[in-house]
Amino acid sequence: MDLDDEYSSAIFVILLVAILLCLVLRSEKAEPNLKHIPAAGHQNYLLSYIDAFEFAFRGALKLKEGFNKYKGSTFRLSLLNHWLVILPKEYSEDLRKASEEDVCFANMANQFDPSLDPIGHYEAAAYRNIHQLARYVNQNIAFLIFDLKEEIEFSFENAPVDGFADIGWQETDGVRLAIQLTTQVVNRLFVGLPFARHDELKRVSMELTSDIYQPPLMERLLPRKFISIFRVFPSSNRYQRQMRLLMLSFVRVRKDVLNTAEHTGKYKDYDLLSWALHQDGPQQIPDEIAFDLVNLTITTSRMVSMSLAHVLYHLASNPQYVSPMRMEIESLVRQGGWSKESIDRMHKVDSFVKESMKLKCVYCITTARKCLKPFTFSNGMYLPPGALSAVAVEPRHLGSTYSSPDVFDGFRYSRLHEQHRVDDSPTTDRMNSQFQLVTTTADDLAWGYGRHACPGRFFAATVLKMMLAHVLLRYDVKFENGVRPKDVVVGMNRLPDPSVKMLIKKR
Ligand code: HEM
Repeated sequence: MDLDDEYSSAIFVILLVAILLCLVLRSEKAEPNLKHIPAAGHQNYLLSYIDAFEFAFRGALKLKEGFNKYKGSTFRLSLLNHWLVILPKEYSEDLRKASEEDVCFANMANQFDPSLDPIGHYEAAAYRNIHQLARYVNQNIAFLIFDLKEEIEFSFENAPVDGFADIGWQETDGVRLAIQLTTQVVNRLFVGLPFARHDELKRVSMELTSDIYQPPLMERLLPRKFISIFRVFPSSNRYQRQMRLLMLSFVRVRKDVLNTAEHTGKYKDYDLLSWALHQDGPQQIPDEIAFDLVNLTITTSRMVSMSLAHVLYHLASNPQYVSPMRMEIESLVRQGGWSKESIDRMHKVDSFVKESMKLKCVYCITTARKCLKPFTFSNGMYLPPGALSAVAVEPRHLGSTYSSPDVFDGFRYSRLHEQHRVDDSPTTDRMNSQFQLVTTTADDLAWGYGRHACPGRFFAATVLKMMLAHVLLRYDVKFENGVRPKDVVVGMNRLPDPSVKMLIKKR
């Protein structure tokens, strides 16, 4: 390189740095003023970018450091394109009561930092129709139970466990097993038969669900609006395209079936695909329905499979809970068969899943909200318009008012239910709503809290309980050393370690 080349390279670098500085300083002006809230890390705006890069790789740890430093009071974290205010418990009620014009649900991926949400559940919440689809599955859970049970049986028969479990304890990959079971079951409920058993759909659904363990580097560092440029590269996008094409072909086939059935009046089923076609009526655009189904399938499979894997890991490391839960399930199924009523009355199973989701919540932060107008909390604390806030789940759960909240107590909630029992009738022995798996409080945040708490939770809870009940009735699971392995944290998602082997045996 001659001298002229060196000069021009230096000028180029200086110009680039100057442009970046201008952009950064301009963005500071554009950001809401949060100087009254202490920052975890550098207070200086420019230096806070060091924290932001660090956050992109070890966000959960930075969150914990901030929480420990400010002893549970309000602080802000530097993200690549924003500050994120972490709120303590006393602000939850004010936010819950806030009107939609003042404070709205915040899509973490778009408004925060993409590294926060590899699972993409917050992003999926923004898609067309997802609320109606969630409402539909909730309303039809009772009709879906039969399909759910049949598909759980089918998926276990086709999972590796059935192939070899007859010969005693065998090693299995617990996370992969949870993903395989969940994707199969979710596909059955969403697109029905015969599509759910399509080999290509099974393969693509599993790939898309497993992808959350390795979000592409670009997705960790770049704001969402730039990511679309790189979207052609990551494998997840390839799989999404494949799934969309599959869904589109299913939509077209089902549309013809439904059109014929309309004349004969012979066809009736409860999967989401038929419902979505019916819902959109003559205006239906197959491409849009396929797009909705892809998004809902991916987000449901990811959330449910990760929660199920956490539950299985808790089961494998806490054998003392197995026998009481088996007795409960056997007795209820003997009396009422596999019905919604029986599943609602499985209090111990309900409690076990709730405790697992509390101690191993898939999201490290939740209830992400954005202020649309100036918002003053009842103690006088103020957030300007544009401010983004969230709650750190783990410290909230571990510091909750329950006794020894940091120790896994599988029957914590069923015991509380017994202590506060409101209805003794054996036929309507519903769990006290205060302690149910689906109940959200300022201390139980696995489904979020307030008006934007997860609308899919009634459905997801039924699926999780039924899958756990099936495992309990058919299998024994354990870890070689009896100890639950440490989790892995990807972005803001706490996931069970996929590299650890679980032992499984057919009963
Ligand atoms: C184990 C499974 C699941 C977990 C742990 C979970 C958790 C969550 C959480 C933490 C939120 C944010 C709530 C807040 O900010 O207050 C949320 C929102 C949401 N979830 Fe789920 N979810 C699950 C399954 C589902 C399913 C199966 C569906 C749909 C059928 C669904 C649909 C939604 C939607 C639409 C929102 C946005 C709510 C709104 O904008 O008001 N979720 N979920």
